Amino acid sequence: MVFPKIKKHLSILLIRLNQKTELRRMSQERNKNLDLVMESFLDLKYGKNIEKYLEVFKKCEEYRTHLLHDNRFVSYKIAGSNKTQTVSEICRKASSKPIWAQFLFLITKKISSPNILEIGTNLGVSGAYILSALRNKKNSTFITMEGVSDFCSIADNFFKSIDACPEYEIRQGLYEQTFPIILNENHKFNLFFIDGNHDKNDTINYFNLLKKTMQFPSIMVFDDINWSVGMQQAWKIITQDRSISYVVDLYKLGVIIIDDLKPKKKSVFHLHLHY
Ligand SMILES: C[S@@+](CC[C@H](N)C(=O)[O-])C[C@H]1O[C@@H](n2cnc3c(N)ncnc32)[C@H](O)[C@@H]1O
Repeated sequence: MVFPKIKKHLSILLIRLNQKTELRRMSQERNKNLDLVMESFLDLKYGKNIEKYLEVFKKCEEYRTHLLHDNRFVSYKIAGSNKTQTVSEICRKASSKPIWAQFLFLITKKISSPNILEIGTNLGVSGAYILSALRNKKNSTFITMEGVSDFCSIADNFFKSIDACPEYEIRQGLYEQTFPIILNENHKFNLFFIDGNHDKNDTINYFNLLKKTMQFPSIMVFDDINWSVGMQQAWKIITQDRSISYVVDLYKLGVIIIDDLKPKKKSVFHLHLHY
């Protein structure tokens, strides 16, 4: 128990010590998508260029606070278990923390026509940030996938209140059922947030299948890449894929950039934003 924690803190310390060099290496690449990931990181790390978004962040965090005070029980029946938990507990455990949701917001903002697929709607906290970033953006779409119907309606209630956002869809159903349908619909996504079932094989499988639904270039953000040994293995296997141009490892989140499907010499960068 203690050893993995020491290992984690040591590797984060090394990343922090090397961060300036990593940022320099990233800017030398002169890649538009890598730049926008780096800028999102720097904006949050140093609180630069985000004043104009503070009001939006406040609204999303008010939604989180509202969820954290919601003591209604929600059933997990669709996910094959009879477990019930309060909305408040679910929000505390499953929702992206503000810094990571804001990172997604900034990436979304910096893409001119984002077509986004999120695997893992949950109560819509990350979705609230993503949709807010899409306000007044032309030619953008947002599809998010969730198995638990109560989560879908809670998320939808908040999404509906976000004005001037483009059309969005919450696809309800187990991924085993909804994933093949999405793949058959000829979407061309260019931003993915993979935050569903944190299972090694499913995560690798999503990556391989989603390559068929992407525009180029595309950015894929994986949550919880160090959450379990299985997720660490999945991340390692995914980042070895020969189509990937850039890997940005933020310890909690992993970002990959795919310019096209041709084999590449890829560059890997390690940054640290938050514990
Ligand atoms: C970590 S939560 C997503 C959190 C959300 N992205 C956020 O940051 O606010 C993962 C969600 O995936 C859903 N999920 C997990 N396995 C699923 C499956 N096989 N089919 C459908 N939904 C599933 C869970 O119900 C849960 O709501």
